[in-house]
Amino acid sequence: MRNFILGVVITLLVLLLGGLAIATLGFLPTNADSVPPKMERRIAMSAMDASMERHAPRLTNPVPPTDENLIDGMKIYTMNCAGCHGGLDNKPSPLDRSFYPPPPQLIIYPLDDPEWHIYYAVRTGIRYTGMPAWNKALSDQDMWKVTAFLSRIEKLPPAVQDYWKKSTGVAPPPVNPQGGEHSHHD
Ligand code: HEC
Repeated sequence: MRNFILGVVITLLVLLLGGLAIATLGFLPTNADSVPPKMERRIAMSAMDASMERHAPRLTNPVPPTDENLIDGMKIYTMNCAGCHGGLDNKPSPLDRSFYPPPPQLIIYPLDDPEWHIYYAVRTGIRYTGMPAWNKALSDQDMWKVTAFLSRIEKLPPAVQDYWKKSTGVAPPPVNPQGGEHSHHD
């Protein structure tokens, strides 16, 4: 029994030191411009969803989705988020493939998550990715406004759609039958 335990301990030590050696000798890649393998993506995404499920408070949006607030949300999005998540011109961001993992393109593939989930991702960011925590850069009010906008991309009221069209020259995206935040990488 004692030898067995010793064997387990030594195996773990070898694995640990091996892992450290791989890292410190420079065998791990640093480049962000490659596509994460399918398996890695699947595991990371379910881990992220499970973690948000566990950590995020179930808040309801205190900002009413009036035309004015949604237009504010659209402006906040354009100024702070479009560079990574794609602009109101309905094109993927030029940085779409420049992050590891890549940023979801939230205009062409709108989120179908509840607002508490979106707000939590915006407020606290997502660790080990390019997604910043916005709680020091945006007011609470503004984070809720951009959340309201993002959760209604496909069902914006007519006045907000008009504003979108007028300010960009491009109409909001039509309802995407596939939906889903991550479908752009499949
Ligand atoms: C510097 C690039 C960058 C900027 C700027 C940025 N994000 Fe992100 N964001 C990312 C990346 C990368 C991810 C993907 C994280 C992942 O794969 O888990 C992400 C993920 C998200 C998610 C999570 C989606 C999900 O699957 O749950 C939301 C919501 C989001 N961003 C909203 C925003 C909003 C709103 C802004 C602006 C206030 C913003 N982001 C600004 C890079 C960015």
